[in-house]
Amino acid sequence: MEHPERFEASKSSEGRYRMLIDAVTDYAIYMLDPEGIVVSWNPGAKRFKGYDKSEIIGQHFSRFYTEDDRKSGLPGRALEIANREGKFENEGWHVRKDGSKFWAFVIIDPIRDSAGKLIGFAKITRDLTERQKAEAALRESQEQFRLLVQGVTDYAIYMLNREGLVSSWNAGAQRIKGYAPEEIIGRHFSCFYTEEDRQAGLPQQTIEIAKREGRHEREGWRVRKDGTKFFANVVIDAIHNPDGSLLGFAKITRDITERRNAARELEETREVLLQAQKMEAIGHLTGVIAHDFNNLLMAIQGSLELLRRRLPGSDPKIAQLIDNALQGTQRGTALTQRMLAFARRQELTLAPLDVRDIVRRMTNLLQSSLGPSIGIETEFPPKLPKVNADANQLELAILNLAINGRDAMPKGGKITIAATEHSDLPELRPGRYLCIRVTDTGIGMDEDTLNRATEPFFTTKGVGKGTGLGLPMVHGMAEQSGGKLVLKSRLGYGTTAELFLPVAPSAAESPDEDKTFGMRTAPQKRLTILTVDDDPLVALNTSALLEELGHTVYSVPSGMHALDILRRKGDIDLLITDQLMPGMTGAELASTIRANRPELPIILATGYAELAPGEGKGIPRLSKPFSQQDLADAIARAVRA
Ligand SMILES: Nc1ncnc2c1ncn2[C@@H]1O[C@H](COP(=O)(O)OP(=O)(O)OP(=O)(O)O)[C@@H](O)[C@H]1O
Ligand SMILES: [Mg+2]
Repeated sequence: MEHPERFEASKSSEGRYRMLIDAVTDYAIYMLDPEGIVVSWNPGAKRFKGYDKSEIIGQHFSRFYTEDDRKSGLPGRALEIANREGKFENEGWHVRKDGSKFWAFVIIDPIRDSAGKLIGFAKITRDLTERQKAEAALRESQEQFRLLVQGVTDYAIYMLNREGLVSSWNAGAQRIKGYAPEEIIGRHFSCFYTEEDRQAGLPQQTIEIAKREGRHEREGWRVRKDGTKFFANVVIDAIHNPDGSLLGFAKITRDITERRNAARELEETREVLLQAQKMEAIGHLTGVIAHDFNNLLMAIQGSLELLRRRLPGSDPKIAQLIDNALQGTQRGTALTQRMLAFARRQELTLAPLDVRDIVRRMTNLLQSSLGPSIGIETEFPPKLPKVNADANQLELAILNLAINGRDAMPKGGKITIAATEHSDLPELRPGRYLCIRVTDTGIGMDEDTLNRATEPFFTTKGVGKGTGLGLPMVHGMAEQSGGKLVLKSRLGYGTTAELFLPVAPSAAESPDEDKTFGMRTAPQKRLTILTVDDDPLVALNTSALLEELGHTVYSVPSGMHALDILRRKGDIDLLITDQLMPGMTGAELASTIRANRPELPIILATGYAELAPGEGKGIPRLSKPFSQQDLADAIARAVRA
């Protein structure tokens, strides 16, 4: 049916336009007369707006506008503008026949006859609802993304342009780096780097790598606005335009200072633990060796003393040899004492001590030990509390530290001994402490030496010069006394040894009571003495020394044997017992005996601070190794007591 009609129409040019317009369904194309009455209608118009041709021709076009637009006079204005300016363009909501709305792009052109008289308007409308929706969705997602990035506070997320100038800034960036957006946008990102990193060209390098490889990750110190530093994990990505040209860089920075610190602390703790375990093992070994060695020395020393006394005639050469040997045993004894001190198995006689007094008494000794090229200074505040320590051990410790200072100053220098009070120190029980500080102006120690200085047998002084037991002795003595030794040193900057010792409880102000002065012994009466020792060598030696002093000796190897003898023999005047023995300790033996024979004098011989606190309390002690004189003194005290 339509064919012939179309054919007819196509014959004229007007007909061809008609056909074209009728074929267009993506645009509403229709005409208005000068008043705005619809005079033609195409299928596109029908599709968008819903009206049939017959329904709409003859109607005013303002019905396509919204209520509001109609009220504001937009339809009339549109025609007026089109007429006046030759074209009207607009985007806005239009209304369909069913009342629903669509977003339309509208062009209105005036149509004039050849004389220029307005004969109507051509109106082209396009439905942009889909595009508008897509754009709105895009805008929304961009906005959401922007809000998301903005809102992140744990990460600094920002953009740099191609030159490295900051072009965006989020809340995290502000929080981590301290700059407000207006302070930083437009500035070069190298201001986040340390001076050294900037000098080394790190910012530029970072950008270059990101450009080349697309992405670059780094960790390092960065600087906040206020100049403080934080440890950062930084990821930088190159961002490209759709055409592949470089747009700039996205940077994500995280503050990982805390994580890094935690990791470092863990590492350090592990290190300290390892060191502590090592020292514990060495301490144990040293203690065991020192103990056995002590017994050997005792036997040698005792035998030598007896030998010298029993020497037929008096050959001075032989006497000299024996004296040399005895000196050797004394040196050995001093060594084992230091080893025992390190192993914290020293017999300590704790008493309140005035450090100032002790140092004053040591002045001559220090002066002669250190030599004329070394000055000694002391710095004590006027009021100094007493420390709870063993007088002999404290003197030895100070001497050891001072001699270390001397050895570090071959060309001379100064040693300062000072004391200050502290309280509640790390690693130590809460309470008051005195810090005795020995400082030298010597060569100092490198890190490795400093770390190993308190290890037993560690020395840098060469074979035969240092034993490497000086600091271990001080360390062990400090720990056994409830304090600690802290060494501070830098190569080339001298050394400070800090010896922390607990302040004596103020109630115990009378220090002299417990002190054991070496008193000369009055001639003794002959006694019957029972000795108990599981080490036959020591037992033999003790018996020999006692017999030479004129006593009668029974010697047994264990506590059980001793109890047996005591039960059978009523004439024992005195018991001398070793502490550490299999089966029954000396202290246990003593308390068993005390239950039946409280009047029997007992001496506990031990080179070993193996006595638990309170154990063997009130029993006179004899430190191993002991000389004949020590033995005689101890017997005199025990019998008199
Ligand atoms: N004041 C100091 N200045 C520099 N280095 C020191 C100082 N004190 C100790 N050291 C270093 O620590 C090491 C161990 O010291 P320590 O006192 O334990 O043993 P030593 O002095 O070598 O031997 P010893 O004390 O038994 O004669 C020394 O060899 C030395 O390297
Ligand atoms: Mg030393």
